[in-house]
Amino acid sequence: MDILITGANGMLGEKCFEVLSERYSVIVTDLSDRCVYSDRATYAKLDITIEDDVIGFVRELRPDAVVNCAAYTDVDGAEKFKDIAWNVNVKGVENLIRAVEPLGSHLIHISTDYVFDGDGGPYKEGDPPNPVNYYGFTKLKSEELLRRSEIPHTIVRTNVLFGQTHYQQASFVHWVVSQVSSRKVIHVVNDQFGNPTWVDGLAEAIARILERKAYGLYHYGGKDYINRFAFALEIVAVFGLDPKFVRPTTTRALGQVAKRPYRGGLVVDKIKKELGVRIYSVREALRAMKEGQ
Ligand SMILES: NC(=O)c1ccc[n+]([C@@H]2O[C@H](COP(=O)([O-])OP(=O)(O)OC[C@H]3O[C@@H](n4cnc5c(N)ncnc54)[C@H](OP(=O)(O)O)[C@@H]3O)[C@@H](O)[C@H]2O)c1
Repeated sequence: MDILITGANGMLGEKCFEVLSERYSVIVTDLSDRCVYSDRATYAKLDITIEDDVIGFVRELRPDAVVNCAAYTDVDGAEKFKDIAWNVNVKGVENLIRAVEPLGSHLIHISTDYVFDGDGGPYKEGDPPNPVNYYGFTKLKSEELLRRSEIPHTIVRTNVLFGQTHYQQASFVHWVVSQVSSRKVIHVVNDQFGNPTWVDGLAEAIARILERKAYGLYHYGGKDYINRFAFALEIVAVFGLDPKFVRPTTTRALGQVAKRPYRGGLVVDKIKKELGVRIYSVREALRAMKEGQ
């Protein structure tokens, strides 16, 4: 099977390359000139917002499956740069759909618990979405495009991704470890809940979806439903750091630009039951990350 990964330099893209290239022939693409983590990867520059490029590239490659890890993931930035967020998260997906339409390739697209308002999480696949910020709105629109299309596709919603990858800009674990190691006090919200997801587990789940040709909508997340402050305390515990540098705060006090869902997170019963994927606890994932350092 030939697999194309878009946004492959990002956190999930890197793990997908790692897991999928052991079994399949994988071509990785992203915005930059090179693959940031591997010299052996077959890499090409591909901006998913440029329709002609996407159609030309995909139709020539004729992949059996496309895993779309490309996204504009800056939740606060999306409020300010709405056109960029729309172009990448919606138009980009539309381009991919159009490109694979005549090929019948399986398109796997990643979405988020931010399609929900956070009044009643963790959420099941059948719960009604109601995004409270622009990022969540664009991700919901991309889901709707796929549902309206007639291509074989899977939408995988996830939340609070973490793991050991080259791309560390948005890594919560990296931020907590680096700040607390240098004895800086950090304030972390204790009113935003989710089930933090080890990116390695999500990449394994995507491999299972590909293997089984499991179409439709799935939620994938971790075992523990916790708030971000509790997550930060788990991180300092596993990395042997001093918890006194981690202090609780609230979303209101932090004043983030974009509104956040408070009780987000995802129920993962469906993917567990149908595909038998492994769900990881925060502690076991963090320990594996520490051992792999
Ligand atoms: N991270 C989370 O906590 C989280 C939670 C729920 C859902 N998700 C979803 O999971 C997926 C993967 O997230 P992630 O954390 O791996 O994201 P990430 O680390 O931000 O990676 C996204 C990648 O896409 C690239 N990209 C941006 N615009 C592009 C374009 N026009 N064409 C091609 N590539 C483009 C980015 O490049 P640049 O860095 O150069 O812009 C980056 O390498 C996304 O769909 C995201 O919405 C993530």
